[in-house]
Amino acid sequence: MLINKNTIIHGEKVVLVPYEAEHVPKYHSWMQSEELLQLTGSERLELEEEYANQISWRVDEKKCTFIVLDKNVYLTSKHDEIASMVGDVNLFLNDDDNVHSAEVEIMIAETDARGKGFGKEAVLMMMKFGIDILKLQEFTAKIGFSNTKSLGLFRKLGFEEVSKSDVFQETSLKLLVTEFLRNDLQKQTYELIKTTN
Ligand SMILES: CC(C)(COP(=O)(O)OP(=O)(O)OC[C@H]1O[C@@H](n2cnc3c(N)ncnc32)[C@H](O)[C@@H]1OP(=O)(O)O)[C@@H](O)C(=O)NCCC(=O)NCCS
Repeated sequence: MLINKNTIIHGEKVVLVPYEAEHVPKYHSWMQSEELLQLTGSERLELEEEYANQISWRVDEKKCTFIVLDKNVYLTSKHDEIASMVGDVNLFLNDDDNVHSAEVEIMIAETDARGKGFGKEAVLMMMKFGIDILKLQEFTAKIGFSNTKSLGLFRKLGFEEVSKSDVFQETSLKLLVTEFLRNDLQKQTYELIKTTN
């Protein structure tokens, strides 16, 4: 979507920036990994298709994406976004019956960047953006049965299991935006987030 095209969100450990054409070659190189394709339920794309995908994420009003940067590398490399790219975080407003619902997707592609709290912080920042800017009232996630890390992350954030699909081998989780969650997110991200438009 166009709404975040000029938005940069600074967290404590990560910085979220809009997905631009300059990010595509590194993103495309990540998505050559069989492990990442399987864990994220993605298909392998040609480079040209990934460029088209980047434009689609920008113009499709049902999709919102940010590239996740390692803040430390970003600051010490004088804002070199390519050198600091570690993953992406997405919202997909794919529920035709509920325009205030979005599926959250997170990927920390760089293996050295995993287990450092980047994924958790990026999802929290994206949820705050979704609630404040997109007026979302519900988040969902679909996670493969064997992806214990991702299940651990979403459960830790309060997502609860709503169904399981043996066909797709995945669990569906949901988190409703309550007043309690709003306040909790506000507290958790108050010192964390600084948005630049
Ligand atoms: C899953 C993923 C997003 C987690 O991001 P991360 O930055 O490595 O995770 P964090 O360091 O932020 O950890 C956040 C929470 O996740 C859970 N978690 C992380 N590693 C875990 C592990 N090995 N086992 C169980 N839970 C784990 C914990 O609850 C952790 O919180 P805690 O450290 O306070 O206990 C990341 O590993 C990744 O992108 N993997 C490959 C792609 C993928 O699986 N994407 C998700 C598709 S649904």
